[in-house]
Amino acid sequence: MLAGRIEAGGPELAVFDHLGFSHKERRCLDAPMHEDVAKVLIDEEVIEKRLNILADRILEEFSGRQFVVIVILKGALVFTADLLRRMPIPLEIECINVASYHGATQSSGQVNFLDSKLPRVEGRAVLLIDDILDTGRTLDAVGEKLREQGAEIVKSCVLLSKDKERAAKVEADYVGFHVGDEFVIGYGLDYKGLYRNLPYVGVLKAEVVEAGE
Ligand code: XMP
Repeated sequence: MLAGRIEAGGPELAVFDHLGFSHKERRCLDAPMHEDVAKVLIDEEVIEKRLNILADRILEEFSGRQFVVIVILKGALVFTADLLRRMPIPLEIECINVASYHGATQSSGQVNFLDSKLPRVEGRAVLLIDDILDTGRTLDAVGEKLREQGAEIVKSCVLLSKDKERAAKVEADYVGFHVGDEFVIGYGLDYKGLYRNLPYVGVLKAEVVEAGE
């Protein structure tokens, strides 16, 4: 496979994938996905800068302490991968599967744990990572469960926090960005399983949501 071919092309270096497309061309090929987006709320560059700050803050607080990162799937996958690569310390990563949206744009009001077994956290410091804090039910339920299982410390980190009154009285220890109370997609967040691979956070066009309802 001819992956990762790099050529000097003008002032910038062009990186080509195994099919010979440059990154720029590959993004154009993905255009139909971008066409469904009404507006970009937080672009890639802004996300990257904020991740540097978040990673530094977390490293400072956990300094010298072994901890386990628990990723709430699937929404926090993209955010976590980018965040943890800015944290050059030994840490363990575990995943937990919960669902509360069931494919729609409104919370079902119930948090379902989808795994038969939870990660072992007894006596451990945990950094719990989720994509977005909305009603607060997910972070509250998962945090509670981990404490019940004997976690010594549970700190939480979210990419986004919706500015709204929460059904569960919980806030995250680390927040990437505050957003309004609207349904967002991209950078891990989905609508009906799609759009997680958008490199930014945005809002879908109303007609795309209507067509999916
Ligand atoms: P709660 O309401 O429990 O929400 O704080 C947490 C989970 O709900 C999902 N969620 C969203 N997913 N766009 C999404 O794609 C949104 O605007 C949104 N708001 C909540 C998400 O899975 C999160 O973990």
